[in-house]
Amino acid sequence: MGWFLEGLNSSVGKKFIMAVTGICLIFFLVIHLINNLTLYGGPDLFDTVVLNLDSIKPLVRVAEVILLVVFVLHIVYGTYLWYENKKARPVKYKINASSKNSDIYSRTTFVTGSIIFIFLVIHLRTFWFAFNFGNPLTDLHHYFQFTADTFQNPIYSFFYIIAMVLLGYHLNHGFQSAFQTFGWNNKKYFSFIQKLGTIYALIMAIGFASIPIYFLFFYGGN
Ligand code: HEM
Repeated sequence: MGWFLEGLNSSVGKKFIMAVTGICLIFFLVIHLINNLTLYGGPDLFDTVVLNLDSIKPLVRVAEVILLVVFVLHIVYGTYLWYENKKARPVKYKINASSKNSDIYSRTTFVTGSIIFIFLVIHLRTFWFAFNFGNPLTDLHHYFQFTADTFQNPIYSFFYIIAMVLLGYHLNHGFQSAFQTFGWNNKKYFSFIQKLGTIYALIMAIGFASIPIYFLFFYGGN
């Protein structure tokens, strides 16, 4: 067991945890986006989807606990790696262009990650809390209406849109970084992975941001 924990605490072990948890979150976001896109089907479809998920609550709870562990590991190890990186490079001496680039990348990934964390806290407080612990609308199973009303607030919606741009940036770098950790940095495959990562990041950023944009500017119904 000691050797296992030691391995996880090594620099490679930490990067490996970041990559594995990152890939899990990449999958979660695909499912979450598909789920959210049912909002475009109107109140009946979205409310039915939420109610169906409610009918398998124990399973959803298990998935949420796994998700929580994955998020916590990703955030804790990400912060740890950023801190070690910062400690190792006090920026007092000249560094070459490529290490400078990777430094900028790891720093901006930490900054975008931190803002996404703040987004997540606000997001869960608004949606997960209301959907699970009640609100005048969600108690009546008017989940769609609750979502539409929430995004009528321009400040809230603009915060989401900005957070989704940063999420796209974070995912674009995170995607290729995870595959690099798994050793897929062969030139031929890596340019494919890079393109795939960019396409994935764009779909996620545009897909999620489209929801506040739709409710703020295009949704007229009540
Ligand atoms: C416009 C974009 C988004 C909308 C409309 C949205 C909507 C929702 C809703 C309605 C819930 C509550 C589901 C329930 O408890 O039944 C939820 C939960 C959650 N959301 Fe989002 N979400 C969005 C973006 C995101 C993003 C970008 C992330 C991650 C970075 C995220 C992470 C989560 C997590 C972790 C949960 C709790 C687990 C779950 O219930 O699935 N969401 N979201």
